[in-house]
Amino acid sequence: MNPYLDDFPVLKEPMNGKRLVYLDNAATTQKPLSVLRAVEDYYRAFNANPHRGLYELSVRATEAYENARHQVKEFIGADKDEEIIFTRNASESLNLVAYSYGLNFLNEGDEIVLPVSEHHSNLVPWQMVAKAKGAKLVYLYPDATGHLTEEEINSKITPKTRIVAVAHVSNVLGTVNPVREIAEKAHAVGAVVVVDCAQSIPHYPVNVKELDADFVAFSGHKMLAPMGIGVLYGKQELLDKMPPFLSGGEMIEYVYEQEATFAPLPQKFEAGTQNVGGALGLAAAIDYLKQVGYDTIMKTESELLRYMLDGMAQIPHITVYGDTTGATERCGVVSFNVDDVHPHDVSSILDADGVAIRAGHHCAQPLMRYLKVNATCRASLYFYNTKEDIDIFLASLKKVRGWLGYGA
Ligand SMILES: Cc1ncc(COP(=O)(O)O)c(C=O)c1O
Repeated sequence: MNPYLDDFPVLKEPMNGKRLVYLDNAATTQKPLSVLRAVEDYYRAFNANPHRGLYELSVRATEAYENARHQVKEFIGADKDEEIIFTRNASESLNLVAYSYGLNFLNEGDEIVLPVSEHHSNLVPWQMVAKAKGAKLVYLYPDATGHLTEEEINSKITPKTRIVAVAHVSNVLGTVNPVREIAEKAHAVGAVVVVDCAQSIPHYPVNVKELDADFVAFSGHKMLAPMGIGVLYGKQELLDKMPPFLSGGEMIEYVYEQEATFAPLPQKFEAGTQNVGGALGLAAAIDYLKQVGYDTIMKTESELLRYMLDGMAQIPHITVYGDTTGATERCGVVSFNVDDVHPHDVSSILDADGVAIRAGHHCAQPLMRYLKVNATCRASLYFYNTKEDIDIFLASLKKVRGWLGYGA
């Protein structure tokens, strides 16, 4: 029995006449009723533009929005509410750092170090900034199990390194990167560390101090919250010296005909009307995650991952990328291919059984090239998945080659 089923109405939706087996959690997670209600309550009871009105309704919206910020700050162990910037998603958070910090503090010849497994959101913005400033991207390559070795890290982070951009967890290989060790090395050479926690915070506790991160980015929708709300954490001393990324309403102090001065943090980085409903949904998602507890989430997912990897190992003609040992530096994102079958076909065949997986390059084309594949299938777990889900996935996967006329 799935103890979470009643909280997630989507999981009860039939798909192609079958029960939905949702294994695309790395793309986005489903939303519990408490999150849906938090958003609805906001629009029903106290919808107003925050920070702008002096009337009671607007004050309530402002308070709720700022309480959500405080809750995020507590959740990730930041020092101050001012260090929490609400954005649309992890991509916008990473662009904010690249354009506001990178464009203003990088110089010609500086190096930006990043793993080749980065999601395009933590790679393309750095390419744009590197081109504009004459800086260079230097890649860290994982070993055969998907892990970054100490040797690789030590040889690539040098006194030329000004920025290290790294995902806490890879959205393709599921590898948990040694962020703290990377940060220690980066800080020793005076570089800043940008950590993409989009795939970690749904599954592991993220503490910005323990990671020793200068910036942390993540998206609400991958951690039970609605789409359209994301977070950038930045150390205040860095955010203070960075110019605004987007400009317009709400982020100013005084505006004259030819120039403007800017609001203090965090408003300096929050131009225009904000997604208050999304922020409240994120706060409700944090409450839900706390209620389930990361210990339970990690234990459930690591059991499911082991069960899935063991089951896949019994099926011939399957290649799993990354670590298959079930190491602790590994989370429940499993990329794989079936011999002779395009990932899109695998996904369509599984879909007929109600199984939702992802097929494609997963916004990580440089990694696909490094792995010498065009695309992979990806099954990604969350705590509300069950062994029964995995049994259905494995049974469907076993049929794939036969359906297309290949031998077992
Ligand atoms: C590791 C990682 N970083 C960044 C992103 C971008 O997230 P979003 O599309 O919510 O901006 C994703 C999305 O899949 C991701 O997996």
